[in-house]
Amino acid sequence: MRIYQAETYQAMSRRAANIISAQVIYKPDCVLGLATGGTPVGTYQQLVEWFQKGDLSFAEVRSVNLDEYLGLSPHHEQSYRYFMQTNLFDHIDIKPENTHVLNGLAKDPAVECAAYNKLIRDLGGIDLQLLGMGRNGHIAFNEPGDDFGLETHLVSLTENTIEANARFFASRDEVPRHALSMGIKNIMNARRILIVVNGEEKAEAVYQAFCGPVTKQVPASVLQLHPDVTLVGDKAALHKL
Ligand code: GLP
Repeated sequence: MRIYQAETYQAMSRRAANIISAQVIYKPDCVLGLATGGTPVGTYQQLVEWFQKGDLSFAEVRSVNLDEYLGLSPHHEQSYRYFMQTNLFDHIDIKPENTHVLNGLAKDPAVECAAYNKLIRDLGGIDLQLLGMGRNGHIAFNEPGDDFGLETHLVSLTENTIEANARFFASRDEVPRHALSMGIKNIMNARRILIVVNGEEKAEAVYQAFCGPVTKQVPASVLQLHPDVTLVGDKAALHKL
């Protein structure tokens, strides 16, 4: 595992964007696994900047996102599809048909999840998976206690996650209680993993995930078992390592 400690959030974002752009240059039709949340926003801004300068093209890239809130339409401002459009897809040359986000309005979540697993397989698997980390060590929406063997599935969000994500909604009551999420198995099958973390509120989870035992209680700890993980974080998030 490689660890890069950056001085600032901006430097962290630039380093993460460097790793993603290297992947895209090396394999222009790569499959990128993408993440949402506050952490990767700066990474996406940096990628957009390099695209606008003509340094990078996503014309052949395919993308799959980690997760989506159940019950939110793609046009809802807090849906992860909307997040991806506004933070990245609308500003680069990726083909709309090559971007994939789970459908939060799926009538039958089990069918949607099975189709997503098939899609990932049909794309040939994920070349580089970008991850953030929840304060309780969750990755995507795989909450503490979730089975490591799961593929894409329906998740009940923990109180901790609802609380953490309430900042993006008008009130806590509006935060969906369920989501569709890739499972740990999908994530672990990615060829390479890039995890970004910033801020003191992630420091304990980062410590538990990378210095503690591999346990379902800290979902990110499973990454210790992956052969190609890069952790990029700012000082505040990495200071306990
Ligand atoms: C959500 C997402 C995760 C993300 C986490 C942390 O729960 N499902 O993929 O890693 O939030 O978000 P933030 O980066 O805002 O701390």
